[in-house]
Amino acid sequence: MATSTLRLRDFGFGVRLGLTLLAFVIVGGSVVSGLYLRSHHDNRDEQEGFTLDDIRAHYHGIRSESPMLGALERDHPEDMDAGQRRVLIDWLTGDKVRENYDNFDLGENMPEEIIAASCVSCHDSGATGPEAYPELSLRYFDDVMANSISRDINPVSPKVLAASLHAHSLALGTMCIVMVLLVALTRAPRPVVGVLAVMIGAGLLVDLGSWIPARQNAVFIYGIVGGGLVFQVGVVVSLVVVVLDLWLPQKAQ
Ligand code: HEC
Repeated sequence: MATSTLRLRDFGFGVRLGLTLLAFVIVGGSVVSGLYLRSHHDNRDEQEGFTLDDIRAHYHGIRSESPMLGALERDHPEDMDAGQRRVLIDWLTGDKVRENYDNFDLGENMPEEIIAASCVSCHDSGATGPEAYPELSLRYFDDVMANSISRDINPVSPKVLAASLHAHSLALGTMCIVMVLLVALTRAPRPVVGVLAVMIGAGLLVDLGSWIPARQNAVFIYGIVGGGLVFQVGVVVSLVVVVLDLWLPQKAQ
């Protein structure tokens, strides 16, 4: 039935070898761009590790107030000395939060001391009593840091975003058209080919199409990540299908 149609497997040895090598180039390129994305965006949210917040910071920006600062400004805890409250607020709004936490030069204004005296009785994993709040510990440096950071991260500038979007959509779009055509020329079952083609096309469109709206609305971050993932899986599976098809014996199917 399919004898008259064009099939990848029918190409000569040289063409099939060349296509196989190019498939490796694309996989290698994807790995490198994945690694680059990781290292480039790793600290985008000012916190260690590559998480969804890094993507959110890049495309949407992040604005969050330090929970400790918020509590202190709300007059929590009620019975705190006003001068000490001022000291903690100044410390949290300053730019030496980490350095000054246990800076002995500050004397009795050392944040660690004030927190130990005013907060830890309630904010400790072992604290008990009707007023205690052990869920939020402020006993250790890491606990305090986790609750002290205010973040105000601006998204990437519209100019850089537009340049990057332009380059990505043209280069990836072209690559994907070729990819879909190659899969279509394999002996793989038609439904498989169809699903892969839609994964690649829809994934890329949703990913790139979410970049600009993500600036206004953070929901589109899921479009970037979800679309990108579907697209990547589609590309890698398609390449595997293509390379297998190039070398499996003629009568395999
Ligand atoms: C008498 C006990 C007590 C003391 C002392 C106390 N807290 Fe609390 N804290 C609580 C309780 C209970 C809650 C949970 C209910 C609430 O939010 O008021 C809380 C909540 C918080 C929260 C979370 C607020 C939020 O928006 O989620 C922060 C941050 C906090 N406290 C910081 C501090 C700091 C900083 C100090 C010392 C300067 C302190 N607390 C002293 C009992 C205490």
